[in-house]
Amino acid sequence: MNIAANPVVESNDTVYLKDYQKPAFLVESIHLDIQVYDDYTLVDSTLVMQRQTAGNLVLLGRDLELKNINLNGQDLTADQYQLDSEQLQIIDAPDQVLLKTQVIIHPESNTQLEGLYQAGDLFVTQNEPEGFRKITFYPDRPDVLSVFTTRVEADKKYPVLLANGNLLEKGEVDEKRHFAIWQDPTKKPAYLFACVIGDLAVLKDHYTTSEGREVALEIYAIEKDIPKCHIAMHALKHSMRWDEEHYGRPYDLDNYMIVAVSQFNMGAMENKGLNIFNTSCVLADEEYTTDAAIMRVQSVIAHEYFHNWTGNRITCRDWFQLCLKEGLTVFRDQSFSEDLQSAAVQRIDDVAVLKAHQFPEDAGPLSHPPRPDHFVEINNFYTATVYEKGAEINRMMATLLGKEKFRQGTDEYFNRYDGQAVTVEDWVDALSVGSGVDLSNFLTWYNQPGTPKLQVTAEYDAQKQSYRLQLTQSLKAHPKYPNLKAVPIPVALALFDAKTGEQLTLNSASLFVNGVKDGVYLFDQDTASIEFTDVTEQPVVSLLRNFSAPVNLEFDYSDDELAFLIQHETNGFNQWQAAQTLLERVLLQDHAVDPYIQALKNTLPALVKPDPLLASRLFDVPTEGYLGSRIDQNYQPEIIQQKRNAVLNTLAKALGDFWKNTYLSLDPSLQTEFSQAMGERALKNITLAMLARQGNDQAFELAYQQYQTTQNMTERLGALRVLVWNDAPQAPQALQDFYDRYKDEALSLDQWFMVQAANPNASKASIQALTEHADYDLGTPNRIRSVSGGLSNNPVNTWGFGVEHYIGLAAYLDQKNPILGSRLLQVLSRWYTLAEPQRGQVQNALMALQPLVKSKNVTETLNSMLSI
Ligand code: TRP
Ligand code: ZN
Repeated sequence: MNIAANPVVESNDTVYLKDYQKPAFLVESIHLDIQVYDDYTLVDSTLVMQRQTAGNLVLLGRDLELKNINLNGQDLTADQYQLDSEQLQIIDAPDQVLLKTQVIIHPESNTQLEGLYQAGDLFVTQNEPEGFRKITFYPDRPDVLSVFTTRVEADKKYPVLLANGNLLEKGEVDEKRHFAIWQDPTKKPAYLFACVIGDLAVLKDHYTTSEGREVALEIYAIEKDIPKCHIAMHALKHSMRWDEEHYGRPYDLDNYMIVAVSQFNMGAMENKGLNIFNTSCVLADEEYTTDAAIMRVQSVIAHEYFHNWTGNRITCRDWFQLCLKEGLTVFRDQSFSEDLQSAAVQRIDDVAVLKAHQFPEDAGPLSHPPRPDHFVEINNFYTATVYEKGAEINRMMATLLGKEKFRQGTDEYFNRYDGQAVTVEDWVDALSVGSGVDLSNFLTWYNQPGTPKLQVTAEYDAQKQSYRLQLTQSLKAHPKYPNLKAVPIPVALALFDAKTGEQLTLNSASLFVNGVKDGVYLFDQDTASIEFTDVTEQPVVSLLRNFSAPVNLEFDYSDDELAFLIQHETNGFNQWQAAQTLLERVLLQDHAVDPYIQALKNTLPALVKPDPLLASRLFDVPTEGYLGSRIDQNYQPEIIQQKRNAVLNTLAKALGDFWKNTYLSLDPSLQTEFSQAMGERALKNITLAMLARQGNDQAFELAYQQYQTTQNMTERLGALRVLVWNDAPQAPQALQDFYDRYKDEALSLDQWFMVQAANPNASKASIQALTEHADYDLGTPNRIRSVSGGLSNNPVNTWGFGVEHYIGLAAYLDQKNPILGSRLLQVLSRWYTLAEPQRGQVQNALMALQPLVKSKNVTETLNSMLSI
């Protein structure tokens, strides 16, 4: 398969970075008046605008019913402006404009969850990236910043009326209706505007910033969920302190509000002073929430909070720069999470996500640079590449600079650009000037698609006592990006004494960042070599420690060397990486599994008690999905499934009594540290699954007992999974019990759907039973994702009966919720790697979908998927 062989088809809806032009008008202030009624909402807006450059006055608007338009005191007649389905243009507008419009919108029937929409009893907004134009006519682009004043009016059955900034006034309209007026003193782009109208309870707290500002903190949720908001509140205060300590950035308003919404397309949204969150990213309680979900809540709380500086105070000039705010903010939230738990395990989990999602994305038809240079639908670019690879670029620069210089660089960025809408170039320039280190060649990372391949060979010369590494980098050709260049790759490395396992002191005349001792070599050419001297014996090298660059490493390790690194590497991440590399060879190249098992046997006894979390990760056997993503052609999911099961069976057998002894020795309830308890729970669930795999007759009893006696969701769900996935006799009973317990807890019930959808033995009929269940709901993305996401855990099912499921959903969501439809369809993006006849079958099914879809979102994704 050669991607380059195919012609590039561009739709005329394509937007190009090179066409960027400054807006003709800036908005000094906007007054919004939003009146919510049961079957419509009235939006009045007053814009004070000033000409900046020549050009028409362009206001964007979609699905708006224009009732009135008045320019500088005069009502305009239809011949005085041009209106189409996307924009309103006023030709020859004067330089000073006072524009009033009145429109009618329909949040009550808005299923796309973009703009203002009704979710149950709640009205909320989602305006990033281009939702504001569905509320009113406006220059809806991130480089137009304005001061927002918002009046919200609604029936008193909605006691909560929120918008960004400070509450100026609140009062009655009449017996039935009331209003609130809010003003946000900070200039912001429209995508950060938010308002909320509903009946919610609130958890209150407060925080004093390093500057002495008293900030009122409020988390809004439905009454019964308030007790589940404490973890989020704690994480919020922690984030506020963390940003002061690590970046010198205190909070800048007198209040910070978070609202939990059950119908939301993504994780959360950083609207200025008024974050809106998917309930799944704010509600957390050990009784209802898994440990992984609790970790996610904390990281998303931090992520949205950190956006206040990286995204809000300094925003993006245009949407091509999305990774400016997202890549930097993800890097910041990852660093925050590294401080919450074991840094090595956080890095392991982040890299696992990168490799499982971003690497395959970047190797397939949806590949794009972290900063793309064209798009059809910007919503399709909230991708793993923009977020996760974007974060990696920042991490590489931070690694090179070291703590102090990186801080000097970020200080320069905040001082220089506060209040502005900027580009990736501005960011890299500020980092360079502030730190005194020229980082401009990192721009190449932002502008190129694809995962670089880093090939390394080693040679030991006993006579010269020298150890030499030869490095080469390369990138797969891409039709749309022809001039690919070498990128700067920080290679963190260490040498180990092959006999004692001791780490060696490095001696080298090659240039190392921050000195040879740190072991970070900056590889920025097509090829290079590094020589180490005074190496008395053939060493074992450990490359890309902590995953110092997002590349595919090829190094000809022997299996024994990898087993050595599992045992002797002091960098926990590279211990895990060695295990992964070894297992990948076992699973994809039929290597023997014994060196891995032996390394586990040597390592685990000393690791299980002190660091159960890291120990649990050493059992990560690459998932079927990940293994599939490493295969570029003739992929047969069944074969991968068989091989993986065989390895797991061998592992179950080979460690013998270890599983049961370890299972019985763990008691997470005795642990006072969350991360320690989390580690024990992770291990407990792994050992339980292995007991079941051993065919141990006690396994199901232990699982059922664990299921019934625990108060903790991670343990309850872990036990339920073992029962359901193994068709244990206790499974139906446990499933029924789980349902009865949690039928009114949407997020826990999502887990109930998920565990069944992710069952390797799921069938077309069992999935259908879930989607026909009374609690299945096509209006709630979380519920859809629990089934569709669960199903995607099993490639055999996904590429079998799953194809129809995903295509049917994409066709249905194309109009109802195209953002979600486009995302779910991407589950099938690697269809072209399948072996025939499956490949052709999926291709035909995708082609049959083409004439059925209309949204830009699904159309662009589908066209890209098929243009291979
Ligand atoms: N800016 C949000 C974040 O990363 C992303 C986001 C939230 C979003 N909701 C969205 C993007 C809806 C597109 C559509 O924190
Ligand atoms: Zn973000």
